[in-house]
Amino acid sequence: MSNIGSYEERLKNFDWSIAEKELGYKEGGVINIGWYCSDRICKMGNGDKTALLWENAAGEEKRYTYNDIRVFSNSIATFLRRLGLKNEDRVCLFMDRIPELYIGLVGILKIGAIAQPLFSAFGDESLFIRLENAGTSAIITQRKHALKVRKIINRLPDLKHIIIVDHDGIKELKEKEIAFSMEAERVEELELFPTKAESPSLLHYTSGTTGMPKGVQHVHYSLISQYLTAKWVLDITENDIYWCTADPGWVTGTSYGIIAPWALGVTQCVLDSGFSAEIWYRFIQKYKVTVWYSAPTAIRSLMKAGDQIVRQFDLSCLRHLISVGEPLNAEAVVWSEKVFGLPFHDSYWQTETGSIMITNFPGMKIKPGSMGKPFPGITSTVVKPETFEPIHEPGVIGLIAFRPGWPAMMRTYWKNEETYNGKFKNGWYLPGDRARIDTDGYFWFIGRDDDIINTAGHLVSPFEVESALLEHPAVAESAVVSKPDEINMEVVKAFVTLKPGFTVSEELELDIMNFIRRKLSSLAMPQEVEYVDSLPKTRSGKIMRRLLHAKEWGEEIGDVSTLEND
Ligand code: PRX
Repeated sequence: MSNIGSYEERLKNFDWSIAEKELGYKEGGVINIGWYCSDRICKMGNGDKTALLWENAAGEEKRYTYNDIRVFSNSIATFLRRLGLKNEDRVCLFMDRIPELYIGLVGILKIGAIAQPLFSAFGDESLFIRLENAGTSAIITQRKHALKVRKIINRLPDLKHIIIVDHDGIKELKEKEIAFSMEAERVEELELFPTKAESPSLLHYTSGTTGMPKGVQHVHYSLISQYLTAKWVLDITENDIYWCTADPGWVTGTSYGIIAPWALGVTQCVLDSGFSAEIWYRFIQKYKVTVWYSAPTAIRSLMKAGDQIVRQFDLSCLRHLISVGEPLNAEAVVWSEKVFGLPFHDSYWQTETGSIMITNFPGMKIKPGSMGKPFPGITSTVVKPETFEPIHEPGVIGLIAFRPGWPAMMRTYWKNEETYNGKFKNGWYLPGDRARIDTDGYFWFIGRDDDIINTAGHLVSPFEVESALLEHPAVAESAVVSKPDEINMEVVKAFVTLKPGFTVSEELELDIMNFIRRKLSSLAMPQEVEYVDSLPKTRSGKIMRRLLHAKEWGEEIGDVSTLEND
């Protein structure tokens, strides 16, 4: 079974009301993602269907039906309400990929509160910046991560509750901590908060080039795009077993790892474990995964593990493969076709767009290395960087541009309307990427139009890493750029000058690396620290990252007329 309809047909008859009708939503009515992901599926008679198949690194397994999702999300919602939390309060989810993370998001949305998922590998400083900016009232977390919250609690006056989902009932709870067990009580009835299309739903933090991370604010109406793109691009059907490998700390893990699959009523699997080719293939084989949404870094790592290991497993269950987050190289598409008998379909979008924008639509001819074409209902082109006028000649590189107005588009950056407004030029939304369009209308990704580093599909702000580096006692100045990496595409590299009294050593390099890992995260940790006597600066004193970047990538250095220490 498949939802495939021809791309051309879909284009011709397209209207977002197709999704509204299927979901039974009428303009001006109540639309609550939490309800759509649980109660509606039960009302349709599928309460006993498996919603979540979960497994962790230790081999523990759990299974939840749609009725379980309904009652346990009610249980979380009721608990939050008892604490005094209400609509539009920010509630952070800071957990590994445990069931409470997935069901917790549903519960938060049911009371109309705003869910703020944060990657559990974040260190205390990454966490602090995002909780402070959002004015978060409560954080749902695990014992092991609560330690990081404790470190910063005194600097967060708005944070009233630290909810610990795995408290052992023995250890003393510290200031503002409260224990909660999702499964202690099955709450059958809940008064749903009647959110409307424009009610805020999620706040996802994404990295900025020049400033601190930005809170991308979404609304409940985003469901319309997420539902239809999942149905047509991921091709999720009733009987599929779906696996999205992304962590809900990032947008793929919520839009397509919670919201879309559950609103479609499909059975999805979650693996809360580190990566290895063997673990992943065994998981696919065991749960008979049919639709697999993953990322280029993972695919490159699987390629590296070799073809032999693929043959040790029965992966004939796989039916449709999709990728997101970074450029999907042509070799990866060709390789997946060879070993799985199926090509990975690229999909391009970002935290701000909320749903898939450009993609290799199922059934469409795939040109390996190309991202494909805009989803029906999405008007997209490339524009000139100077005038923001559309480029009509095929093959000319420009800035990717979208006509605003699709349902899942962010509504603002939290408390940062100015930066939000700056993303629109000449009536287009500019995601900050460059591409070219060929004569057949296929988009080819070229690169980002800013200094943001995309490492293993995760965006890292050089500014955030540089700011954290300056807090290290030995660092006087720093500049952070990307360097090429075979698997992760790019990784973080730091150039530093040392304060007087500190000498260059390997121990110091390791110490600086670990300092960033603990403060920010393992993703933001520089894989290399290069000591320099001085950093290239413009005459006005701005560090020229561009020069260092060019050196790392073996590119032309370009115009250096403003360079100071030349
Ligand atoms: O630069 C593009 C890259 O990742 C950015 C979005 O990152 P984020 O907001 O974290 O969301 C990631 C998952 C939706 C984009 O601006 N990117 C995303 N998908 C692709 C991509 N680059 C090339 N090809 C893609 N398919």
